[in-house]
Amino acid sequence: MASPCLHIQWEEAAYTGAPWPLAALPGSSLEHDRSAMQNAVANYLHFMFAALVKFRQTGAIVPSQRFLIEKMIAPVPESYSGRIIELGAGNGALTLRLAARCPEARILACEINPALARVNRQNLDMAGINDRVQVIPDAAEHLLSEMGRRGMDKADFVLSGIPLGNLTGKSTIALINAIRGSLAPGGMYVQFQYSLMDRKKIRTRFRNLRTVPVLLNIPPAVVYYAQQ
Ligand SMILES: C[S@@+](CC[C@H](N)C(=O)[O-])C[C@H]1O[C@@H](n2cnc3c(N)ncnc32)[C@H](O)[C@@H]1O
Repeated sequence: MASPCLHIQWEEAAYTGAPWPLAALPGSSLEHDRSAMQNAVANYLHFMFAALVKFRQTGAIVPSQRFLIEKMIAPVPESYSGRIIELGAGNGALTLRLAARCPEARILACEINPALARVNRQNLDMAGINDRVQVIPDAAEHLLSEMGRRGMDKADFVLSGIPLGNLTGKSTIALINAIRGSLAPGGMYVQFQYSLMDRKKIRTRFRNLRTVPVLLNIPPAVVYYAQQ
């Protein structure tokens, strides 16, 4: 079990998502700062390696950073206690921050790349976040169809970082339809993208769509908030 101090350190490392120096936190030791820093660097390297090997699937060269993550998780109330689905969770930059923000929520974090899914799980374990976050090393399409087949509860929030623009048009539409089908009435689909390429596809399938730019991210992104 991680000490409370270490816990804060890991959260902070995930929060900044950055390999640059973290300011010493109140009550933290230099050693903890160093291990948080090493973990942040390792996370970046894992992600960059995944991007090198499977760029189209990974869709970025570095994990999302603070401002994008904040915009992605902002609609989920801190006291939310239902199920959140995260698709394309990578090595957990967003997963960790979401879990820290919503301590009562149950999170299903789906990641197709087993190496990134493993690192995500390790990061969660190191932060002392166990059963309430499940990391599923599987394709989002498969997870969503299994959830439907098993009659599992629909989710109030689906957050996705899947690189829609790297899928074929047909696959993108199928995925957006599957996401819509997995949402409870009034539920929200939150997706980020580095272009506006698939905005229209989402807009034609959801009654309400808000698009918010996030310039302070590498690369700059937009976040779509879609509701039926
Ligand atoms: C742009 S990265 C985002 C990673 C992380 N959410 C973040 O914000 O740093 C996209 C992630 O989606 C994953 N991915 C791509 N296609 C997927 C699919 N069909 N099902 C699940 N994950 C997928 C990739 O492996 C990659 O980790």
